[in-house]
Amino acid sequence: MGFQFLATRRDGPVEYLTLNRPDVRNAFNEHVIAELTAWASEVRAAAARHEVRVVVIAGAGKTFCAGADVAWMAKTMHYTEAENLRDAMAMSRMFSAIDELPVPVIGRIHGAALGGGAGLAAVCDVVVADDQAVFGFTEVKLGIIPAVISPFALAKIGRSAARELFLTGVRFSAARAREIGLVHAVVPAVDLDAAVLKYIDELQTAGPDAIAAAKALIPNVWGRSPAEAAPITSAAIAERRVSPEGQEGLSAFLNKNTPGWHR
Ligand code: COA
Repeated sequence: MGFQFLATRRDGPVEYLTLNRPDVRNAFNEHVIAELTAWASEVRAAAARHEVRVVVIAGAGKTFCAGADVAWMAKTMHYTEAENLRDAMAMSRMFSAIDELPVPVIGRIHGAALGGGAGLAAVCDVVVADDQAVFGFTEVKLGIIPAVISPFALAKIGRSAARELFLTGVRFSAARAREIGLVHAVVPAVDLDAAVLKYIDELQTAGPDAIAAAKALIPNVWGRSPAEAAPITSAAIAERRVSPEGQEGLSAFLNKNTPGWHR
């Protein structure tokens, strides 16, 4: 499928997605949201066919993503509450669709990740940032709130950082973003692509089905007591042990071979 506001490229099993509205710093509106949702659904199908193993999300031009398009937000001021609800639900489905992709998603952040842009970072599994990048949950500065992105952001940064950052809307550095768990690696701009490649290589030495199961395990176990989690975690590991991939991985290790998925 062709997209107007997204650029996609496939390199072997790696799907590169670039937000492509550089003139407005890759801000998203209802059209970008619809395209991102459709793209995530295509990637999900490609992952099921084992054609995609890793996704990289980046932004074209000077910055990763300036969040919601203010021109679109201005339009929504004239929407009814029901229309606003429909719009917000569509945005929520878009974030969930990326959050729940069964393949690892790497965020490549340069410039800024503000508002919904920080939300996009939050739905990535691994986030690599340029050391000059700026982050912020800046919505309150516009008199709105980081509502739709909050479940994803809270799961990454926790309540304490959210209380400071959601309420002040202050912009913060990549180093701070790493401290609070929004970012995993901070590197100089010239090393950004190499840092992304390092993660891509690492991820391709692990079993794709195991990665998908590990990713699904996290939200399943999150917030449950060990006793509540035990049936879920036991079923998950039992399924892995008897799976072809689990068996291949263990025998390859014991026989000092390389499993078939190892690239
Ligand atoms: N929605 C729509 N347009 C946006 C935008 C947004 N969220 N953010 C930036 N733009 C537009 C600007 O209006 C400007 O348009 P113009 O060239 O017609 O004047 C263009 O993008 C470039 O913006 P500029 O501020 O000059 O770029 P920059 O590279 O110096 O700074 C940012 C980039 C992202 C740091 C800065 O634009 C910014 O802070 N944007 C607001 C982000 C925000 O608060 N998002 C939260 C939304 S809830």
